[in-house]
Amino acid sequence: MDRIEFYKHDLGDAELSSVKEVIGSLFLTLGPRVAAFERALGHFLGQERVVGVSSCTMGLVMALEALGVGAGDEVITTPMTFIATSNAVLLQGAVPVFVDVDPKTGLIDPDAVEAAITPRTRAVIAVHLYGQLADMPALRSICDRRKLSLVEDAAHVIEAERAGVRVAELGDATVFSFYATKPMTSGDGGAIVVRDAVLFDRLRRLRNHGVSKDAASRHGGSYVHWDMVELGYKAAMTDLEAALLIPQIEHVSRRRDRRQAIVQRYERALGGRTDVDLLSWSGRSSHHLFTVLVPARLRDRVLEGLAARGIGAAVNYRAIHTLTYYKERFGYARDAFPVAADIGERTISLPLYTQLLDRDVDRVVAALDETLSALR
Ligand SMILES: Cc1ncc(COP(=O)(O)O)c(C=O)c1O
Repeated sequence: MDRIEFYKHDLGDAELSSVKEVIGSLFLTLGPRVAAFERALGHFLGQERVVGVSSCTMGLVMALEALGVGAGDEVITTPMTFIATSNAVLLQGAVPVFVDVDPKTGLIDPDAVEAAITPRTRAVIAVHLYGQLADMPALRSICDRRKLSLVEDAAHVIEAERAGVRVAELGDATVFSFYATKPMTSGDGGAIVVRDAVLFDRLRRLRNHGVSKDAASRHGGSYVHWDMVELGYKAAMTDLEAALLIPQIEHVSRRRDRRQAIVQRYERALGGRTDVDLLSWSGRSSHHLFTVLVPARLRDRVLEGLAARGIGAAVNYRAIHTLTYYKERFGYARDAFPVAADIGERTISLPLYTQLLDRDVDRVVAALDETLSALR
């Protein structure tokens, strides 16, 4: 029987011809396709200011810098995320301050955020884990009261809403990822959405070495000098990436709906089991990942059992404070953030993408069932 992969992209003819057009054109980077993608994504999100960048990681680094986060500042975030979130804080010379997550959702707990604020706190990064929005109204109100910036790590989200609030609606900067396993992908790539015009201009410079004018905007008449006005990065989106992304936007909602149907099929099949716990979600989740929690002592053997039965699976994520670098640098004990540690020891992500058929989902469930029964 064929292996069921953990993830398969959905790129096809529309993306191929879109990329071909770029290859036949003048600009391969920071040209008209990047601008067209920024407009199209902004239109989809109901936002005006979108900056195409090379990755969500670099987007987070630049967003923090533009928001004034620097050496010695503290940034509060969750340990139940990919390392990119807190690495971006470290790359700015700032200190990530972790707070624990809600055991029902795995999302950052706003009360814990409030309790962790010190005079050095400068910003909060909310992570929309697995596609479910964090409690943005609560976080926004804390950040407004305590004069902190609020960043949304939206690497798992394109379309999402919770209690009437959409992604990118309340954050000062919201950063998206188009990495290879994301629902909308260009292999690598990202975008930052901001609501403030000054922040927007700053981010457009920061992605291009801090240069005042990019090549496309200088093209045409006689030579126009560019100037470097601040120290920036080499982190812009290319037109090849933008060309891959543009045709995918119109399918975002339909593909999200299909992933939700798959999640619901998994939930119906697994919901009654005593040896599997499921996290809860509400509103309109992007459903980027579907995770099950199994007993910690069995987790790695369940992963082996799934692999032996031809099922791709992954771990998203072992809690960041339990990883070697963070443990050694900051001296964290496992129980500093026990809920995140527990999820990290028990979680398994199952296949979730539009090309998965109902019978594939049933095969994954059967493989999980067989594996757990064999280990009982
Ligand atoms: C929660 C989260 N934040 C940030 C990132 C970083 O995204 P990128 O690979 O585009 O830098 C990822 C990527 O997997 C992620 O899952």
